[in-house]
Amino acid sequence: MTQLLTLSPQNPSLELIRQASAVIQRRGLVAFPTETVYGLGANALDEEAVAKIFHAKGRPSNDPLIVHVASVEDMKLVAAEIPPVVSTLAAHFCPGPLTFVLPKLSQVPASVTSGLETVAVRVPAHPVALALIRESGVPIAAPSANRFGHTSPTSAAHVMDDLNGRIDMILDGGSTSVGVESTVLDVTYTPPMILRPGGVAREAIEKIIGKVTLRNNRPDSDDEAQVSPGLLGKHYTPNAELILCKGEKAEALEKLLDLAKQAQTEGRSVGLLLAEDDLHIFNSLSCKAYPLGVSADLESIARNLYAGMRALDDEKVSLILTRDFGAHGLGLAIHDRLLRAASQII
Ligand code: TXA
Ligand code: MG
Repeated sequence: MTQLLTLSPQNPSLELIRQASAVIQRRGLVAFPTETVYGLGANALDEEAVAKIFHAKGRPSNDPLIVHVASVEDMKLVAAEIPPVVSTLAAHFCPGPLTFVLPKLSQVPASVTSGLETVAVRVPAHPVALALIRESGVPIAAPSANRFGHTSPTSAAHVMDDLNGRIDMILDGGSTSVGVESTVLDVTYTPPMILRPGGVAREAIEKIIGKVTLRNNRPDSDDEAQVSPGLLGKHYTPNAELILCKGEKAEALEKLLDLAKQAQTEGRSVGLLLAEDDLHIFNSLSCKAYPLGVSADLESIARNLYAGMRALDDEKVSLILTRDFGAHGLGLAIHDRLLRAASQII
């Protein structure tokens, strides 16, 4: 049985947080909200507890986990060395959706890092997550709280859909505000390298520390498998076939309109994962639309992206049509997730 506790996201009840930390302390699994997506947490320093995460998610063991701590200072609980660039960035982005890859301490079990000599660590900007970490008194390893290969959960209901009966507890703190995962920045490289674009934009990082590099995140890149196996491949997939149309907005929408018409003549049900201001050209068709917000507001697009994929799956559409929202700011993370979700890119 999975216990579901509902608590205030801004001001969580200490009594409920204590119940959750008791689960962590007895090597159990607790799903909890962060500002990005829901995480599936266990004591990061306990190998047996960590093993349960991989089992519950059906996650391969070569996919390392992010460790969550309550302060930048507490990164020392898992990292052997905190280079100055971390302090500089932390002053701007911690707590927040920025994960640092750092040299690991030996007490971090190899299962957390998939045998790598580095550990990924971040301070989440969510009162429930921070209270849970503090009250548990240990760093908490937490991947996104979805079954392996599914889209990340942005609400407790999403976690329930994927993991009910497989984990001890879910803390329901409402919908997450960022909606895509944290940016993973490897600071063992000079200059630092973005391994996964996410909630903190590349431009925002570069404004503080100058140029960073961006790992080639093409899902079929071999190179990537060696550094960060978890980044490999299709990873965030809805059940429906998803077609991503790249390129300039007007042209992309024209192509999507043709695809929608064709699919409907074949009797397929079509879902539109698009901005509000994209939808009017589809008015004559009977598609299921999931408006992501206005196209100029990338924060809104990111926040609604995974919920949209899940909602269209729930509607049992067989085809989801979507487009790129550029490569600037959060556009890069949105692009990366859509690439991984896509069955076809045109
Ligand atoms: O926003 C987030 O980051 C969410 C919330 C729950 O914090 N967590 C999350 O975890 O997205 P997960 O497990 O779904 O993704 C972790 C990513 C993977 O792509 C993994 O390869 C990378 O972090 N990673 C973890 N440890 C690493 C390491 N030592 N070196 C390189 N990449 C690492
Ligand atoms: Mg994940």
